[in-house]
Amino acid sequence: SDKFTTQSFLDAKKNNRKITMLTGYDYSMAQILDGCGIDAILVGDSLGMVVQGKDSTVEVTIEEMLYHCKCVARGAKNALLVGDMPFLTYHVSAEEAVRNAGRFIQEAKMNAVKLEGGRSMADTVRAIVRAQIPVMGHIGLTPQSVNVFGGFKVQGKEERAARALVEDAQALEEAGAFAVVLEAVPEPLARLITEKVQIPTIGIGAGRYCDGQVLVVNDLLGMYADFTPKFARRYANLKSTIAEAVGGYIGDVRAQKFPEKQHTFSMSDEVLEKLY
Ligand code: KIV
Ligand code: NA
Repeated sequence: SDKFTTQSFLDAKKNNRKITMLTGYDYSMAQILDGCGIDAILVGDSLGMVVQGKDSTVEVTIEEMLYHCKCVARGAKNALLVGDMPFLTYHVSAEEAVRNAGRFIQEAKMNAVKLEGGRSMADTVRAIVRAQIPVMGHIGLTPQSVNVFGGFKVQGKEERAARALVEDAQALEEAGAFAVVLEAVPEPLARLITEKVQIPTIGIGAGRYCDGQVLVVNDLLGMYADFTPKFARRYANLKSTIAEAVGGYIGDVRAQKFPEKQHTFSMSDEVLEKLY
């Protein structure tokens, strides 16, 4: 099949075809997701939490992100690959942001970058897009702002905050972003934003009317035990599947049921005799 591009994102919205995106952090998972026909893989800085076990995403570095992006790029053929710009790699100046965004494309084989923020990031988005690097926006609950928000909370419930989010989405569109993630915003507000912008909205905890959906793959697979957000659906319980498999292994080794003859390598008796 064909490579999914930023143009396919825009076409999908026009044709009312829902866009599917999942996070991925390594080669094996990227290969599986890509083989399933997922439209886009986001190498999210959520890896700070689900891969590295940190409390938030703000400790993740660009070197760590690039490492995971390279792993994912080797596993994916058709999915659009989006690299998440980590905290403080696009805030200091537009120039620094362009250089850092460029690393995701040039070193890590991503097709696009994602960054958090709306109106305040519009000039930065414009600068990155001018460098021919597609940008996905991300507004609503932006986890890199956890220390300002005071926790992971729904955004845009009050009139002022809701208006601000509409303006954020419009500012990102105007700055040239090809899509925008809406995280943890009320469904009616996500619907309104989706109607007001031409670029696709990708929802996570943003209800049914977004142009696409994204989830953290560990949440979908039931293998991140610390916390399941209200908006995630578990399509599998890999935690218990893995526990069952590992329990079987432990039991078999202890009972000397594994390994068996078919798992072993042989050598000739002639050589062996010389060793005794
Ligand atoms: O880091 C991430 O996984 C994300 C998605 C939840 C949108 O930013
Ligand atoms: Na992220």
